[in-house]
Amino acid sequence: MTVSTPKFPHILHGGDYNPEQWRDYPDILDKDIELFKKANINCVSLGIFSWAALEPEKDKFCFEWLDEVIEKLYANGIYVNLATPSGARPQWLAQEYPEVLRVGQNGIRNFFGHRHNHCYTSPAYRERVRIINTKLAERYASNPAIILWHISNEFGGECHCELCQEKFREWLKEKYGSLDNLNHAWWSHFWSHTYTDWSQLHSPSYMGETSIHGLDIDWRRFVTDRTIDFMKAEISAVKSVDPDIPVTANLMGIYAYELNYFKLGRELDVVSWDSYPDWHNPNVSDFITARNESLSHDMMRSIKKQPFLLMECTPSTTNWRSVSKLKKPNMHELSVINAIAHGSDSGMYFQLRQSRGSAEKFHSAVISHTGTDNTRVFREVSKTGADLQNLSKTVYGSSFPAEAAIIFDTENKWALDKIQGPRNAGLDYFGLIQNCYDYFFRNGINVDILDCDSEFSGYKLIIAPMLYMFRGGIQEKLRSFVSEGGTLISTAFTGVVNDTDLCFLGEATKEKLSDVFGMWVEEIDGLHDGQKNSLNFNGKEFDLHDICEIIHTAKGHQLAKYQCDYYKGTPAMTENHFGKGWAFHICSIPDTALLNEIIGERDVELQLERSISTPLPDGVTANYRVNGERIIVFLQNFNSFPITMELDGVYTDILSEKAMCGITLDGYGFAVIEKKI
Ligand code: GLA
Repeated sequence: MTVSTPKFPHILHGGDYNPEQWRDYPDILDKDIELFKKANINCVSLGIFSWAALEPEKDKFCFEWLDEVIEKLYANGIYVNLATPSGARPQWLAQEYPEVLRVGQNGIRNFFGHRHNHCYTSPAYRERVRIINTKLAERYASNPAIILWHISNEFGGECHCELCQEKFREWLKEKYGSLDNLNHAWWSHFWSHTYTDWSQLHSPSYMGETSIHGLDIDWRRFVTDRTIDFMKAEISAVKSVDPDIPVTANLMGIYAYELNYFKLGRELDVVSWDSYPDWHNPNVSDFITARNESLSHDMMRSIKKQPFLLMECTPSTTNWRSVSKLKKPNMHELSVINAIAHGSDSGMYFQLRQSRGSAEKFHSAVISHTGTDNTRVFREVSKTGADLQNLSKTVYGSSFPAEAAIIFDTENKWALDKIQGPRNAGLDYFGLIQNCYDYFFRNGINVDILDCDSEFSGYKLIIAPMLYMFRGGIQEKLRSFVSEGGTLISTAFTGVVNDTDLCFLGEATKEKLSDVFGMWVEEIDGLHDGQKNSLNFNGKEFDLHDICEIIHTAKGHQLAKYQCDYYKGTPAMTENHFGKGWAFHICSIPDTALLNEIIGERDVELQLERSISTPLPDGVTANYRVNGERIIVFLQNFNSFPITMELDGVYTDILSEKAMCGITLDGYGFAVIEKKI
C-alpha cells in the first residue's frame, strides 16, 4: 500500500480554491466552508496564484488572510494542499527584475502578463521564489492542516534569454566534453553547420537553426532538466523546513509532451495531473474519449508505479475549448471514478468557487456565480464526495497490477515531430499508441505505459509502437525481456536512430534489434492520405497505411504479406522466436482491427489477467486494483443508457454493501465491487 498523503490517508475530494480573489467579500469564506462541507469536500488546494496577495510589495509579507482561511478550513475538517506561488508572478517583481520574464525564439522578451511567463534560469526569479517558498514553509509546515505541497502549477514552456543560452552551453559541454563529439553526435558537418566555438551554440529557433535534429532534441532535454532543476530548488525550500510533507506538481497527461514527464515526475513524491476530457463531442464517442483519457491516467500512474492524484478536473465544463459542453447527468462522477479506477487516490477540481471576472469566469465550479447548493453540478459533486468517502477505506493506496505495457517515449515523440521524411504529411504516434491501448481497454486488462527509462521486468507483453529512437540502453532491456520469455510487438519505424537522431548503420545489427526481430529493413515507402496497402492474416483482410517497410527476414518467420504495389508478396508482418520469448513486427502502420487481432492472439497464449472474465458489453470498461487480499473491480458504463451484465462470481458492491453476481449499470453509471483473492 502506498500512502500519498500520510497525514490524511484518505481519498481526497476538493480542489483549487482562490480566496485571494474574494478578499473584498468578507462573508464569502464562511459561506464557502459551509458549502464545502455539504459537498463532502475534505481537501482544498490553496495559494496557487496568490503571490501578489502574499507579498504585495517586495519583502512585505501578508499571511494573515491565509492564516484565517487555513484555520477555518481545518476547524471544519478540511485539509490543505498548499501551493508554492511560482506559476504566476506579481507585477512589482517583473517591474523590478525584467529578466524574470521569458524571451521567445525571436529573442524578444515578453511583456508582463499571462502566467507561466518566467525564466527558469533567472537568478532573480529563483531567489524571489526561494524567499516566498521558505516563508510559506516556515509559517505552515507544522500546521496540522497541511498534508501536501503543490509545487507551482503545470510547469511548462521555455525561455531563450542569454542566461538560458549560457546554461545550455554548459549543459552541452558537460554532456559532450568536446566540440568534436558534439559535431559528430549532431551530424553538424551537414550544410557546413560545424560548430567551432562553444559560443556559437544557440537554442533552435524558427529564425535560425532548425535543421540539426540532434540540437532540437538536446534543447528539449535541456528544457526538461532546467525545469527539474528549478522545481528541485522549490522543493528543497519547502523540504528544508519539514522533509516529511510530500510534494507533488500537477502535470498535464500524455498529450502535453513538451517536458519529459517521466523524468520530471520521478523527482516528486506523488505524481498528480489535470484531466479535462472532451465529453460529449459529437465527433468522438464517449467511449473513445474515455479510452484516450484513461491512457493518460495510466501513464501518470506508471511514472512512479504508484497511485497518483487527480489534481484537477472540471465539475462540468471548461471555458477554453471551441465549444464548452456541459457534462451530462452522471458523467461527472463517472469521470472521477475512471481516474480512481486507473490508480488515482483523489478526485479534485478546478475550481471550487467560480471567479467573478477575468479569463476563467465561465469555467464551471462547485460553487457557481449563484453562490448556492441549488445546482445540478453541486448535487453531483456532493454525491461524488460521499461515494469517495465510502470507497476510501478499501481503495485508498491500493495497487494496480499490470502484466502488459505499452511504450510511449516522450523523447521519441520529440524526434518524430522533427523527422523530415518518410511522411511529412503526418505520422500519428499518439493515434498509434491509442490504437495499441484499445484492446486492453475493451477487454478489462490493466496496462502500464512505460518509457525507455522504465523497468521492463515483470511484464508478459510489451508493445513498442513506432519506437523510432532507441535510447537509454533500451536494446539490452528489450533483448533480455524477450530472451527471458517476454512477448514484444513493434510496428514500422522502430529502432531507426540513436539518442541524438543518428541513423543506425549496417543491415542486420544488434543496435536495431535485428537479432530479436529476425529481420531488417531495406526501404520505407510513404503512402499518401487515403492510400492503403493491406495484408491477410487469420483469413481476414487488414488495412495498412502511412508507411510500408520493405524488409528482409533473416530468420524471422513471415506471418503475412503485402497485397499491393511492387512489393506485393514480401513480408508485411513477422514473428521470431528469440531465447524463451517472441518478437512480432508489423512492417506498416496498422489500424485497431489488426492490432486487436494480433494482441488478442497473444492474450489467448499469455492469459493476461482480466478484471473480470465475463465479456464486457459494448461501451463498458473494467479495471482492477488490489488491496491486500481484496480485488476491487471498477465497472464503468460509457453509454448514455443502462446496461445489464453478468459477473464472473459473487462480489460485494462496496457502496451498497449488497452481494451480487449480476449488475445493472445506469447510463454513465458505474459500480465498484470487491471479492477476496
Ligand atoms: C489548468 C490550470 C488551472 C485552470 C484550468 C482550467 O489545469 O492548472 O489553473 O486554468 O486549467 O481548465
